[in-house]
Amino acid sequence: MVSLAIESVNQPEIMALIEALDTYQKPLYPAESHHGIDFSALSQDNVIFIVARSADGAAVGCGAIVLEDSYGELKRMYTAPSARGRGVARTILSALEAEASRRKVSVFRLETGYLQPEAIALYERAGYRRRGPFGDYTNDPNSVFMEKPSLPPGYTLRLARLDEASEISTVIGRSAREVGSQDYSSAVIEGALTGAFGVDTQLLRDQTYFVIEYSSILVAVGGWSRRRTLFGSDSRSGREPELLDATTDGARIRAFFVHPEHTRLGLGTAILCASESAARAEGFSAFEMMATRTGRHMYQRHGYTGDTSIQHPVGDSIAIEFFPMSKRDQLTQR
Ligand SMILES: CC(C)(COP(=O)(O)OP(=O)(O)OC[C@H]1O[C@@H](n2cnc3c(N)ncnc32)[C@H](O)[C@@H]1OP(=O)(O)O)[C@@H](O)C(=O)NCCC(=O)NCCS
Repeated sequence: MVSLAIESVNQPEIMALIEALDTYQKPLYPAESHHGIDFSALSQDNVIFIVARSADGAAVGCGAIVLEDSYGELKRMYTAPSARGRGVARTILSALEAEASRRKVSVFRLETGYLQPEAIALYERAGYRRRGPFGDYTNDPNSVFMEKPSLPPGYTLRLARLDEASEISTVIGRSAREVGSQDYSSAVIEGALTGAFGVDTQLLRDQTYFVIEYSSILVAVGGWSRRRTLFGSDSRSGREPELLDATTDGARIRAFFVHPEHTRLGLGTAILCASESAARAEGFSAFEMMATRTGRHMYQRHGYTGDTSIQHPVGDSIAIEFFPMSKRDQLTQR
């Protein structure tokens, strides 16, 4: 059994743990592939640093999360060799994630090295998926980049089922009418709900659409597609069901709607992260979408660009302003 606490890094015993981690990692990679964080940076206010201590009080493991603007980055995860194989790192990782979620971090990211299979396995078992470089990192064949969305307590994310189309439609309707009303008139929203917004059952059949539940009720929906259609429900004309080519096309990011009582909790971000991960797993490294005025804030926050709007007709002399947006990963090959 270990006990965990947020502690200062400025203790000789903790510094020795971190030095042991450096001693282990340094011979594995060339100097330019080391991205350790130094003691003074670990002492800053934007860092959560957790120490695991054994029953006799000895520090046997540590880990940190650096709170960046739009994500939290895991750093300095280490378990002393004498304490390995007892779940210490898993416990530290979940404590860090819980504390970071409490501070509204909605995505966890990390960089590790390809010669550390035990670390990669720990993160994969905890739900992390590989991605491209983020923040100031650049493509480095020695690096493995991973991420995982975070959800507030009580919320669960899963793939949508085909028999849920009507509940999904209810979430879309409430979200469009209530959340969307900050940006569009009701005439525009009602027009959009006849085809531009709504359920695309192709996504449900393709298993590329996610839902988030709270107390068994659907509160957020959204997904991605390997097909050309960029937006719109089953009833929109001009659908393009042909499959995209992951090597040249951007995966489509599709139909994000969050129930008005559950916005700004990171649910949209969690679905975006799950969608990008699933598309990356099929070889996509670029993403495209048609964003609403409301949605573009979230997409910009996650690296999407596109400032030029288009007017999409949604009725007689009524049009909705949309923003075509896109993003491209710099993917590491290994
Ligand atoms: C767009 C939408 C899905 C976002 O869902 P959400 O779960 O509230 O988004 P998140 O909580 O993940 O937001 C992540 C970040 O995006 C930005 N953001 C999200 N909504 C924002 C808003 N209304 N204004 C400004 N920034 C916003 C913020 O940076 C936010 O982080 P913060 O809360 O820590 O400041 C939701 O507003 C919605 O359902 N809108 C109506 C339907 C719609 O327009 N869908 C988009 C289709 S393209």
